[in-house]
Formats: sequence, C-alpha cells, structure tokens
Amino acid sequence: MGRPAHNVRAEPSAAVAIGVFDSGVGGLSVLKHIRARLPRQRLLYVADSGHVPYGDKTIEYIRERSRKLTEFLVEKGAAAVVVACNTATAAAAATLREQFTIPIVAMEPAVKPAVAATRSGVVGVLATVGTLESAKFAALLEQYAGDVEIVTQACPGLVEQVEAGELDSPATRALLVRYTEPLLTRGADTLVLGCTHYPFLRPLLAELVGPNVTLIDTGDAVARQLVRRLPPELVAASVAPAEHFWTTGDAGAAQRIMSQLWGRLVAVAAV
Ligand code: DGL
Repeated sequence: MGRPAHNVRAEPSAAVAIGVFDSGVGGLSVLKHIRARLPRQRLLYVADSGHVPYGDKTIEYIRERSRKLTEFLVEKGAAAVVVACNTATAAAAATLREQFTIPIVAMEPAVKPAVAATRSGVVGVLATVGTLESAKFAALLEQYAGDVEIVTQACPGLVEQVEAGELDSPATRALLVRYTEPLLTRGADTLVLGCTHYPFLRPLLAELVGPNVTLIDTGDAVARQLVRRLPPELVAASVAPAEHFWTTGDAGAAQRIMSQLWGRLVAVAAV
C-alpha cells in the first residue's frame, strides 16, 4: 500500500510542538490541562471558529475540517496532535490516524469514570447531537455502562454561548436549567461534560445542580494520555514554553474570547 496522501512530517528542528484543535474555543479547556502536564513545551492551538459548531454537521464535513486543521498544525511543527473535541473525535479520529503518521490523541465523554463514581446508579451525559448519535458513543456505552442507567441530553446552543463568552448570562443559565433538569429528575448524581466547551460552564453548572451532583470531564485524562504517547525527546524538550493561537474565523473576536478563557491577553492569528 502506498504512503497516505497527507502523511506530512514536520521539519525535525521544528518538531518540538504539540498541536491542538477544536471547532472553536472549547479545546482551550483541554489545552489548560496539557499546559499543566507539559510546562515546557510549545503548544499550537487552532480554533475552527469559521465553521463552529460541529455538533450539527455531517461526518464527512467534520472529517474534512479535521484533516485540514491537522495538516495546518503539522506544517506549523506539531509532532503530535490532540483532537480537543468530542464531536470531531467521534467523526474523524479513526480517519486522521489513517491519514497521518504522528500520534493523534483524541477524546471521548467520561462515561467510564462516571459509571465508577455514581452512587445513585444514574449518570447524565451532556454532549452535542453529533457525539450522542455517533457509533463511537454507542460503543462506549456498550463497553462501560454495565448496570448503570445512562441518560443523554443533547445541548444545542450551549457551544454558541461559550463562543460568545457568555459563561454566566441569563440565556446560558436558562439553557443549563433546561438541559440538566430532566437528568436530575431521572436521579442522575453524576453528570458527564461530554463537550470540551462545557468545562467553561462548570462554575455555573455546579451552582445550578448543587453539591450532591458530581461533574466529570476528560481534559486531564487526555493530557495524561498525550504525555504517554509523546516521543520521549519531546517530553524532555526544554524549549521556552509558549502558546501560539490561530482561528479560521474573525481574529479580533477570537482574540477577545480566547484571552478571556485562557486567562491572559493572547495574540490570535487568522489561518
Ligand atoms: N467542543 C466540541 C466537542 O467537544 C464541539 C462542539 C461543537 O462545535 O458543536 O464536542
């Protein structure tokens, strides 16, 4: 079999970076965990803000976007790429692994830890339509749900609230109440934040559901998996730590929201 068409390799001298992408700014919640686990690496982040949200797009569309973004990150020097998006993982992780030779680290809703954590025997999963309808999510339930009842809730509109920086507005509150109420009514004591945008809503969610409900996401698990998958020379690299941000959308708008979510003023370039 021939070499895959997109089997691009980074220049050795530049291959000291880790690439991360998401449909928008949600993947920054994962990037924070990556930075905490890898304090000395160069991190490259691209937000596909020009095409957000992915949740209602076709599999083919998301696969094509994921291929383009991965190619972009490899060209910028990424020696590994993290798909910091549950929806893109469900649609495209397998094809990316066929198209690229570098490690592709992807994510999935935290069903396994939630099943281990629940005391009521009911777990709620908040995610996009794309994630919840995927074959990958069905397989995840098949593998880990066991006797635990899993109640799913698609959350249209939530990603857009985070993209707009509305982490605590009346509209965001109303959506969260609407999406969590059915899960709490069914007896869920553990909620999976199955989209990388949702950890930015964690303070508001925690306030709304109260202290007896556990909120779980996979950001840190993905960062740990990345460290395991990285070539040792990249883990040992001691370049000055830096983050570089790009967007496929409006750079000014992205700079405002990414600075808000990252916690300091960052420069964002247009792809
Ligand atoms: N942040 C994404 C996820 O983890 C995608 C959200 C979207 O664009 O619909 O699923």
